[in-house]
Amino acid sequence: MTQEDPRILELRKIRTKALEGGGEERIRKQKARGKMTARERVTLLLAAGTFNEIEPFITHQGDEMNLLQDKFYGDGVITGYGQISGRTVYLYSQDFTIYGGTLSEMQSHKICRVMDLAVRNGVPFISLIDSGGARIQEGVRSMGGYAEIFRRNAQYSGVVPQLAVMLGPCAGGAAYSPALQDLVIMIDKKSFMFLTGPEVIKAVTGEVIDSESLGGADVHMSISGVAHLRAGTEKEALELVRHFLSYLPSNNVENPSFVQPRDDPARMDESLNRVVPLDPTEPYIMHHVIEKIVDQDSFLEIQPDWARNAIIGLARIGGHSVGIVGQEPAIMAGVIDIDAADKMTRFVRMCDCFNIPLVTFVDSPGFLPGIAQEHGGIIRHGAKLLYAYSEATVPKVCLITRKAYGGAYVVMSSKYLGTDVTYAWPSAEIAVLGAEGAVNILYKKQIEMSKNPTAERKKLADEYREKFNNPYYAASTGYVDDIIEPRESRPKIIASLSALRDKYTPAPPRKHGNIPV
Ligand code: HXC
Repeated sequence: MTQEDPRILELRKIRTKALEGGGEERIRKQKARGKMTARERVTLLLAAGTFNEIEPFITHQGDEMNLLQDKFYGDGVITGYGQISGRTVYLYSQDFTIYGGTLSEMQSHKICRVMDLAVRNGVPFISLIDSGGARIQEGVRSMGGYAEIFRRNAQYSGVVPQLAVMLGPCAGGAAYSPALQDLVIMIDKKSFMFLTGPEVIKAVTGEVIDSESLGGADVHMSISGVAHLRAGTEKEALELVRHFLSYLPSNNVENPSFVQPRDDPARMDESLNRVVPLDPTEPYIMHHVIEKIVDQDSFLEIQPDWARNAIIGLARIGGHSVGIVGQEPAIMAGVIDIDAADKMTRFVRMCDCFNIPLVTFVDSPGFLPGIAQEHGGIIRHGAKLLYAYSEATVPKVCLITRKAYGGAYVVMSSKYLGTDVTYAWPSAEIAVLGAEGAVNILYKKQIEMSKNPTAERKKLADEYREKFNNPYYAASTGYVDDIIEPRESRPKIIASLSALRDKYTPAPPRKHGNIPV
């Protein structure tokens, strides 16, 4: 029997050691917290047998103060590439069992390496994050490592999709990199995101709060707007990654893949003709409208719990990916406030980066009036949305279902912001102001001097409504391309997007624009 080459035996030994992460005891602790190991996550995310690790031998370097007692292969992060639904992705998965998954100089080199390879090959990049932030023992070297990652997150933004899944306590720098990415997924009660944790907050401000109340999934899904999707378990979160990616191309020069629709493109939903109540103050549910128009079961709503007066999400229509933007008239009458503007803006820009056409559903009485909104910079925030729609070159189709008043008309993918096709339902009301507000301004004196101001105001408001509370004036002036029956919406939108498939919109050369932030 020939003896195995000792050098090969040595390699096998090191490889086995590398698989042990931070050791048995720390893995036991990780499991006790209800968390998977970094390797289990990679295996679960990617198609079986497709993962190829790179740089598994890297260890931390230059421990000047001798604070880092142990050297671990991989230095707290697993990096490499594999396949999701037949497409290559690059990824990293932080190993909390090694120095709490914290970022060292060498860990940052590993992460940057896979980021560079993802862009060089034009494929998505996925971060599985479980980290205590910058590794304290490495001082400025770990912070510089974060800067290297953030720079790449920014420079590669809009080149390849970047997705972050938060799988543990993601502190400091571990929270900033996801904030620069296209999608942030959190896990209920298991993941936290904060720049400074409860201990630091207590020391600095005296405020007492636990991790969940400070930066849990509930907070970032409904209050801060930092996260986009939530999952009950790690498994569900990884499924969401695959699902979200199915709507996106691998990079900014490809188109999203076509999925043969099981839903008839010519389907007309008769119930849509009855959806908008005759009373303009009565709400209806725009989510239902969207679901009846797009391919059945294809709507993936994003940020469903934050700024609920606005709706954003990915869907398929006629088998093609689209970005859906709209108002929910059942929440705050669909008014646009600061958070709604921010939510829609970021999404419009993401769709434009990745060649995903935009379909906008409009029912909004306008921007939210109020001191808090004005002092909070609603002008600046609303301007972002104007900017985003104006610069977006993807096919843009707009459907006005009911109210499109004032700023809300203009900002919501209006025709002269560059929208390709604008439809209105017969229930559309397109005007600068609502009837009462308008006559109070236009006919103030006439109403005051009238013998019966109430009757006079009503008469004038009725006349105003007759002229403006319908889509016909807008259509007669060309501001609306066509007025359609609600049930025709699906085939009409599919036809218009199909005619726009080869849209080409060259832009004047510039370094980059200066979006208001
Ligand atoms: C080095 C760290 C560490 C850190 C945790 N560990 N955070 N090591 N640097 N930042 C180590 C612990 O010593 C421990 O090592 C292991 O990770 C697990 O940590 P535990 O505290 O036992 O776990 P847990 O109770 O679950 O608490 C996790 C935690 C907490 C919430 C993350 O450890 C924590 O608050 N850490 C500090 C977070 C932080 O402030 N980071 C710096 C942010 S500033 P052993 O050997 O026992 O397994 C930053 C600068 C970048 O990131 C700024 C860019 C903008």
